[in-house]
Amino acid sequence: MSISYRVLDSADEPFLLAFIRGLSAETKLKRFLTTQHICSSRFVERLLKADCSLAAIEDEPGAEKIIGLGNLQDLGEQTCEIALVVSDNYQRQGIGSHIAQELANYARTTGYRRIYADVDAKNNQSLSFLKKLVGTGDMSVTNPGEGAMLSVEINFQ
Ligand SMILES: CC(C)(COP(=O)(O)OP(=O)(O)OC[C@H]1O[C@@H](n2cnc3c(N)ncnc32)[C@H](O)[C@@H]1OP(=O)(O)O)[C@@H](O)C(=O)NCCC(=O)NCCS
Repeated sequence: MSISYRVLDSADEPFLLAFIRGLSAETKLKRFLTTQHICSSRFVERLLKADCSLAAIEDEPGAEKIIGLGNLQDLGEQTCEIALVVSDNYQRQGIGSHIAQELANYARTTGYRRIYADVDAKNNQSLSFLKKLVGTGDMSVTNPGEGAMLSVEINFQ
C-alpha cells in the first residue's frame, strides 16, 4: 500500500465527500459529534475552508482515495484547533500520528504556541492518541463545564 500526504484544495471536494460518506457512524460521531448533514457538499466545502486540511491519500492505480484527514483552525491568540479522522479500515496503522505530527510542525513553524482539541470524555481512543502528540510539548486536560466534553491543550515549549 502506498500512502502520500498532501494539503487539500477545493478541487478535492468529491474525494473528500466520498471519504466522509465511507466512515462508520461511530467514527463520524467521534470526529464531528453528529452524523447529520455531514455527507453534503456544503459541509465538505466548509471543511475545506479550514486554515489547513492535510489528507492521507492511498494511491490506487488510476485513482486516489482519501483515507485520513486532519484540520487546523486558527482560534486567535497564537492558538489553533486540531481535529483528525482516519478511515475505519486504516486506523491503528500510524496514519493519524503522521498527520498530527505534520500539522503540529506546521503550527509550530507558523508561530502558534498551543494546539487545542475538543474531545468527547468517553473517547478513550482519541485521548490515548493525543497523549502521543505530547512528544511535541506538554499537555493539559480540563473539563471546564464538567460535562461530556474535555478540552485538551498542548503547549509548545
Ligand atoms: C483518533 C484517530 C484519528 C487516531 O488515528 P490512527 O491512525 O488510528 O492512530 P495511530 O495509528 O497513529 O495511533 C497512535 C496511537 O494512538 C493510540 N490509539 C489509536 N487508536 C487507539 C485505540 N483504538 N485504542 C487505544 N489507543 C489508540 C495508541 O496509543 C496508538 O499508538 P500504538 O498503536 O503504538 O499503541 C482515529 O482513531 C480516528 O479517526 N478516530 C475517530 C475520530 C476521532 O476520535 N477523532 C478525534 C477527535 S478530533
